[in-house]
Amino acid sequence: MSDARLQAFHPFLRLAALLDDLPPGPSVGAEGKPVFLQVGEPRNAPPDFVAEAIAEAASGWSRYPPPRGDAAYRAAAVAWLNRRYGLPEGFLDPDRHVLPLPGSREGLFFAAVVLAGSRSGPGGGAGKGAVLMPNPAYHVYSGAAAAVGAEAVMVPATEETGFQPDYAGLDPAILGRAALAYLCSPANPQGAVAEAARQAALIESARAYGYVAAFDECYSEIYFDAPPPGALQLAAASGSLDGVLAFHSLSKRSSAAGLRCGFVAGDPALIDRLDQAFRFGGAGVPLPVLAAGTRLWQDEAHVVANRQRYRQNFAVAERVLGNRFGARRPAGGFFLWLDVGDGEAAALKLWREAGIRVLPGAYMCGAEGDDSAPGAAYIRIALVDDPELTEAALGRLVEVLQ
Ligand SMILES: Cc1ncc(COP(=O)(O)O)c(C=O)c1O
Repeated sequence: MSDARLQAFHPFLRLAALLDDLPPGPSVGAEGKPVFLQVGEPRNAPPDFVAEAIAEAASGWSRYPPPRGDAAYRAAAVAWLNRRYGLPEGFLDPDRHVLPLPGSREGLFFAAVVLAGSRSGPGGGAGKGAVLMPNPAYHVYSGAAAAVGAEAVMVPATEETGFQPDYAGLDPAILGRAALAYLCSPANPQGAVAEAARQAALIESARAYGYVAAFDECYSEIYFDAPPPGALQLAAASGSLDGVLAFHSLSKRSSAAGLRCGFVAGDPALIDRLDQAFRFGGAGVPLPVLAAGTRLWQDEAHVVANRQRYRQNFAVAERVLGNRFGARRPAGGFFLWLDVGDGEAAALKLWREAGIRVLPGAYMCGAEGDDSAPGAAYIRIALVDDPELTEAALGRLVEVLQ
């Protein structure tokens, strides 16, 4: 895959090419400035103790980040996983089963780097394995497959499939050449939660065919009713971590995307392989950041407040949009996924007429064109602003698109 090709399907580069040369229309933003709803970046501040923890650990800035982080961070990650998913005490060993990461993105990308070249199960053999991913999905899955020259198998995650991919229904020949499958729950952009049975089926299939099930759980703490089930819970129920990796991050949970702090937990052999790869090409997580991250994983009060904030925004969206554009409150995450007929045309119109920037759904879809762009009718809107701006922006969106 050439650089140009990778750029051609990076959603934000495509969006910049679509809109950057066009003046935004008069907007409802502060002082008439544009409203940016295209990026899934929380706009509220992380708790004050983050800055305090970083200042207290400042002596760590002169040291290289230790490859596996530090014991306190790994212990805090495991304690949180145990509380959140009700894991049996001792199921996770902080030293063997957890690798601190700058964010889930780095881990998800490196998973393809490390794993795409190997298949160990019945379908195993020489050459690159296929990488299975939902379509539409977070662009890093396809970018990672492209960067390592692996075949990307895009599996529809549309209204017909409950907005999650049906990996279990894939042709066994495809599963036989798979090296890695990404599953995102709650999903970006659709907000669908993968129910426990679907996750368990993926784990079972991964073990049967010898590929790795990589669960992207970075939106796990942003939900509306029940907490979404997690892969480690299902791995625990199966009595083993074989073939399972679960990626977590403080970016969304704690509104700390700039901190670059997360982890991957799971199969110790895979954790070792990721660790090795990061020792060659990863930045690691600096000690003062680990100190702040440790405090964040130990605290739930700010996470509860965050969830409340997103609930408020979705209540606003429900009031303003009603059932226009097929709007529905997702099970999790903070995106609205609206069927506007032609997502790219709507994004263009919203920018030109109302200075509102949103992401066309097609930009989160398979790169091959033709029938592989199942999100083309949609736009994705990140409800990350305060409820007042959210209300004004959605009200204007209705006026422009109706
Ligand atoms: C589905 C999904 N996975 C992973 C990430 C990466 O987040 P981070 O690297 O900050 O943890 C994002 C960020 O937007 C995302 O939407």
